[in-house]
Amino acid sequence: MQPYTALTLPNGAVIPNRLAKAAMEENMADNDHAPSKELIRLYQSWADGGVGLMITGNVMIDRRAMTGPGGVVLDSAQFGARFEQWSRTARSRGAHIWMQINHPGRQMPAAMGQETMAPSAVPMDLGNYSRQFAAPRAMTEADIADVQQRFVNSARLAERFGFTGVQIHAAHGYLLSQFLSPLTNKRTDRWGGSLENRARLLVDVVKAVRQAVGKGFAVAVKLNSADFQKGGFSQDDAKQVVSMLNTLGVDLIELSGGSYEAPAMHGQTRDGRTLAREAYFLEFARDIATVATMPLMVTGGIRRYPVVEQVLASGIAMAGMGTALAIDPQLPKAWLSDRSASPALRAIPWKNKVLSSIAYMAMVKYQLRRLSQGRQTRPHVAPALALLMQQLETKVRNWQYRRMMHGGA
Ligand SMILES: Cc1cc2nc3c(=O)[nH]c(=O)nc-3n(C[C@H](O)[C@H](O)[C@H](O)COP(=O)(O)O)c2cc1C
Repeated sequence: MQPYTALTLPNGAVIPNRLAKAAMEENMADNDHAPSKELIRLYQSWADGGVGLMITGNVMIDRRAMTGPGGVVLDSAQFGARFEQWSRTARSRGAHIWMQINHPGRQMPAAMGQETMAPSAVPMDLGNYSRQFAAPRAMTEADIADVQQRFVNSARLAERFGFTGVQIHAAHGYLLSQFLSPLTNKRTDRWGGSLENRARLLVDVVKAVRQAVGKGFAVAVKLNSADFQKGGFSQDDAKQVVSMLNTLGVDLIELSGGSYEAPAMHGQTRDGRTLAREAYFLEFARDIATVATMPLMVTGGIRRYPVVEQVLASGIAMAGMGTALAIDPQLPKAWLSDRSASPALRAIPWKNKVLSSIAYMAMVKYQLRRLSQGRQTRPHVAPALALLMQQLETKVRNWQYRRMMHGGA
């Protein structure tokens, strides 16, 4: 399949090409946690660049549970006009925009000052950085029911405000992914133990969302092809979960991998396995494709045209890109005349894997920030500079968030 051929989804919607902008948390919400002018300008650059599908950075379903400060929250209709402007801008050249909806569970920074909850009271293990996250409490039945309702509520609102679909985030160690993994889900009730139980919340959320939205509205899932931690969610588990989702009207599954503890989505594992240098999860995706009945998308390490072709030739319907499109939002258009374009960031020379991963995120966010201001990107920014700027901004944003939630710092 060629990158510039359209994809018809199970719901009948047509995505104009096979190139997708993967979710990247922007931290660009305004003080109401609604989309800011800068955020909307950023999406204008991707719309102009010719990508077929944009998946938003994760949008929170509950303002008390944030993956980071400055995140967009959609838990009421109050700021609908700004969300409408966001979706209208992204769709202005014919692309689709799906809102990624998420709950962080235990992956919420402690500096935000909120209580964290998770399937079980298992704290994060990030070595010296573990204290960046508070120990979570185990969720009650009422908490679980509330989360499910919130996913539905946000999906309904996204449809109302002009998004063409939602992507339910069940990857990267966030709440739904915590339920899926035996390392973080130690429950002995119907939400833990067997894979069927660990997948129950994801399956229930997908069913409830599918039922709540219109037929033509896409419902997608982002899933780990594995956690890349010993004893975690395995490739075989992923295949079984995809089989469970086969009959639920899911329009696309995006395959990624890892978590904050093992950031495989950026090429690092913690179970000794090595990933491919490019399109990290393609081998896994090929295997999962043997059971999937819905289109698949693979994301992670794709930034060259021949790699996109390789992904599509493997029977994967879409190629997802984050970093490459943060550096060059015009890439889908550029490849039409110059197949050699391959955007890359400056290499990070540090050995500490956690720090390198944080710096990588900061370097990408630095590009997003510049695009949102209508400026050229700077892929050669020094990792230390991007990290410092990110930390300063996060400090300010955390303070603003605590003040808003508690009326004090
Ligand atoms: C700055 C940044 C923010 C990200 N935020 C999200 C997010 O909100 N949701 C998500 O599913 N993945 C997120 N990711 C992961 C990307 O979607 C993608 O899986 C990962 O970057 C690997 O793809 P790439 O090599 O093309 O960048 C983020 C990645 C970066 C670099």
